[in-house]
Amino acid sequence: MNDNNWRFVKKRTAADGAVYASADGTRYRRTGGAALQAEVAFQSRVADLNYPVPHVLEEGVTDDGHFFVVEESLGDQTLHDQAVTSLDCGRALADDVTDTAAQVAARLLRAQAAHVVEPTPGALRQWLDRAGFTQNVFQENPDLDNPRTHAALDHALDRLVTTPLVHGHLDYGLPNVLSAGVIDWQHHGLVPLGYDVLPALEIIAFKGGTKGYTASPGQRHRYLAVLDDAARKATGQPISQNLGAYLLVKALFFLALMRPTDSSRTDKHLKWQYRRHLFTKGLEQYEHTGTVDTALFPGLDEFAAGHRAGDHP
Ligand SMILES: Nc1ncnc2c1ncn2[C@@H]1O[C@H](COP(=O)(O)OP(=O)(O)O)[C@@H](O)[C@H]1O
Ligand SMILES: [Mg+2]
Repeated sequence: MNDNNWRFVKKRTAADGAVYASADGTRYRRTGGAALQAEVAFQSRVADLNYPVPHVLEEGVTDDGHFFVVEESLGDQTLHDQAVTSLDCGRALADDVTDTAAQVAARLLRAQAAHVVEPTPGALRQWLDRAGFTQNVFQENPDLDNPRTHAALDHALDRLVTTPLVHGHLDYGLPNVLSAGVIDWQHHGLVPLGYDVLPALEIIAFKGGTKGYTASPGQRHRYLAVLDDAARKATGQPISQNLGAYLLVKALFFLALMRPTDSSRTDKHLKWQYRRHLFTKGLEQYEHTGTVDTALFPGLDEFAAGHRAGDHP
């Protein structure tokens, strides 16, 4: 394979290495180290379990000793790209994007439900700590490491004990979804069924409006209905009752690694305070209703205006 034919796409977000596309757009190439090797092994394994993932075409070692993998392209636009290009003047997502998201999510959910993993003691707690980066969150926000937070998290885990454990993505969202399947499995691990797919339209709200689009309540409702239907057929049970517990964990995830080390960075400080606010709001909602309604989250601008006016701690 002639390396000159590969167009650089980007450096990998949360790992060493980079992503390249073939000149004709039919293949993608990633470089990296041991983590990429584990990612590819996982991807090949779940491809055999009918997960909607790109097939691995080639793997090996580059001249400078890095690991590389070539996989098939699942298309030229992620659903995030489609969401952005389909925006007219407003911020509403196009219905065909959310409906395609529901179809892909249902495919992944069905494959996951068909390959349940026997839980080990502590597996659910391990998922919570990994998915929610709890160690980092409590280190950066020691005031949140309190009995109230732990009571809510324990409650969420209790509610999930009967939910099957499956091989999951852990970074599922529109930027990693194409109509043909799901890419970017670097964070893979065990998750309770539905953790990947249920919050995909809700997590847009944690960006505070900076993504440029939002999913309407109707779109989110339809999306969850498709997943409940798929879950009922696969397991006999709906799945959307887990959304609140999952969003509590997402609120932790979005708070991780946010505390700026440089106190002069007021922009970063504001974003950290914003995510703290969303976590606290999500926690309150979870305590009162057992779920989290992301439609009630303020946007970043709105929060910033209130923050300047002294409305927020
Ligand atoms: N198999 C693929 N099919 C289609 N597009 C892909 C594929 N792999 C990567 N891409 C494109 O490259 C971008 C970066 O790849 P990704 O693995 O998501 O990197 P990162 O880990 O930095 O998020 C994606 O957002 C997508 O546009
Ligand atoms: Mg990605």
